[in-house]
Amino acid sequence: MSELKVFNSIKEFMQYRASLAPTIEVGFVPTMGALHNGHASLIKKSSLENQLTVLSIFVNPTQFNNPDDLKKYPRTWEADVELAKTSGANIILSPTYEELYADNYRFQLTEKEFSKNMEGLHRPGHFDGVLTVVMKLLQIVRADRAYFGEKDFQQYKLIQDMARNFFLQTEIVGCATVREADGLAMSSRNVRLSAEARKKAPLIYKVLTEYSDSLIAKGLLKQNEIELEYLEQHHGRRFIAAYLEGIRLIDNVQI
Ligand code: PAJ
Repeated sequence: MSELKVFNSIKEFMQYRASLAPTIEVGFVPTMGALHNGHASLIKKSSLENQLTVLSIFVNPTQFNNPDDLKKYPRTWEADVELAKTSGANIILSPTYEELYADNYRFQLTEKEFSKNMEGLHRPGHFDGVLTVVMKLLQIVRADRAYFGEKDFQQYKLIQDMARNFFLQTEIVGCATVREADGLAMSSRNVRLSAEARKKAPLIYKVLTEYSDSLIAKGLLKQNEIELEYLEQHHGRRFIAAYLEGIRLIDNVQI
């Protein structure tokens, strides 16, 4: 199963999925592309733990509250295919909006508590879009295990709770955050930073690990032209969101 197959049609993917022997264990890594080593670590873990790894690449418009962010989201298909191959993915599923959202987002999934903090508070509708698309993808792929990064811990936790409460058969597996040598959490948005901003960006991780007081953190970041959005603690972790040159970066660590 070393050859990489690409499906753009959900219908064709589902026919292929149904043809697989039930004994084959399937791992699933959902992404929005612009793949980096953080994504690669999820794909590698899946390919170690399963016989077949499905990677999805779909820039999901319903989770973007900011149209400019959606427009500027990096798209790097050719490099993504290479990274998928070298990390051990067997299938890429890259559906169209029209097929995935045949209902034009008439049906939506909403969580009413934890999704209203942090990312959900500052990006209205974001988690409705995430949970809805992940539910659709989990139903299509019917994986044994699906892999999510702790980089987006709030997302991971919400998806894990959703899977449990809708009795999905897929185990939701959390994966450690992969960082650059200077501590900056890898993110598809990092490529949009200027060289100057890229030098300042590791300060976000430094503040996150060393400060719990958001007023002090705000002042420190401000001196470096980084605008703090929030610094909060939940579930034994500390979470941060900050803007650098208008680019929004998030991170979190266990405390
Ligand atoms: P995306 O931002 O492409 O991330 C895909 C997966 O990679 C997520 O589970 C994310 O947490 C993980 N990831 C990103 N950076 C990481 C890093 N530095 N270390 C470890 N894992 C990392 O998250 C999404 O896409 C979307 O919301 C999605 C779940 C695909 C739904 O559209």
